[in-house]
Amino acid sequence: MRSWPLWGEEEERNVLEALRSGFWGLGGKWAFEFARDFARYCGCKRGVPCANGTVALKVALRAVGVGKGDRVVTSPYTFVSTVSVIAELGAVPVLVDLIENGLHMNPVEASEIAEALDAKAVIPVHIMGMPSPMDELQHLMKSMDLAVIEDAAQAHGSERRGRRTGSLGTIGCFSFQSSKVMTAGEGGCLTTDRDDLADLCWSLINCGRTSEKDWYESDLLAYNYRMSEFQAAVLAAQLSRLDHQIEVRQRNYRLLLEELEDVDGIEPVRPPEGTTRFNVYTVPLRLERKRIGSVDKRHVVELLRSRGVPVSPGYTVPLHRHSGVVNYCASLGIELTPLPNAEAAARDVLWIPHHAMLTDEERALQIADSLKEVIKNIIS
Ligand SMILES: Cc1ncc(COP(=O)(O)O)c(C=O)c1O
Repeated sequence: MRSWPLWGEEEERNVLEALRSGFWGLGGKWAFEFARDFARYCGCKRGVPCANGTVALKVALRAVGVGKGDRVVTSPYTFVSTVSVIAELGAVPVLVDLIENGLHMNPVEASEIAEALDAKAVIPVHIMGMPSPMDELQHLMKSMDLAVIEDAAQAHGSERRGRRTGSLGTIGCFSFQSSKVMTAGEGGCLTTDRDDLADLCWSLINCGRTSEKDWYESDLLAYNYRMSEFQAAVLAAQLSRLDHQIEVRQRNYRLLLEELEDVDGIEPVRPPEGTTRFNVYTVPLRLERKRIGSVDKRHVVELLRSRGVPVSPGYTVPLHRHSGVVNYCASLGIELTPLPNAEAAARDVLWIPHHAMLTDEERALQIADSLKEVIKNIIS
């Protein structure tokens, strides 16, 4: 049996109900109701269901008016989609280095750059499920015409200063791809408080249709990026388990942190100041180079896997070194400069996935013991 995804009778019942309804796409109730409930869960007025997280980001950028030549500020330590959608719209990605020893884009630098370049949008990424520090960006969102598009693909249920991710910026973008803490294999959702943007996003995922025009008429050129009823039926059940699963993961995560407290050579990267709830999508662990030397993180991963620890090397190339991004920027005449903190993160940070924390305490302690043993052997 695979350790993820987890499902039960509720998923089975919902899928069967969707099947028997005969409405498998447009006209069904599941996608609409799921997006409404998920938006409420995030503390937002409106939710728009869509095909995946990549599409959610692209539609959000389009909805706030990002187009050719517009600058969009974001992080180099994220999944490639965050930047590929900027390129697909012909816009200019501006990558800002991470906070030292952290995994989030430096918000002070990001807001200064956004202001100086008169950026159209900024995408803070709630990486690993940890809410991005973004006070300065939220301030700019109010004081200048800057859209804040949250990449919340990994951050279902996390909170910053008591507010859920997806409700912190102009539009939130979620993914339900198979590695996420809620999944239907694929899927996405946009969340916002603004009716005008929600209506536009709905139109952009729905071939440009609007409620004012006839079915085959529209003013917009757009695509079919809709979520299917089967996906939504599964996600409705997944949402009902999310809070309990977050609690279990948090308990084991705390245990792991305690166990690793005095361990030399490896250091958990903790959620930034201001985090009031961490969904524990990933437990990021940084190899301490001063203690561990130049050993490749992939080798550490192999050693841990051989002891049954489900761990991954995570991102190995920050996006300012990703050839697709480098080539796209070169085509615009932009040469990307080094970003040392992002490079260090790609070199040194390993990931333990959420399902490894969705276990009993004994298993969490076993993972901690294996980590200690492997690191001790490397150091000695
Ligand atoms: C940070 C981040 N952004 C965007 C995406 C894209 O989501 P999807 O795979 O659903 O297109 C993902 C997911 O893989 C992600 O982790």
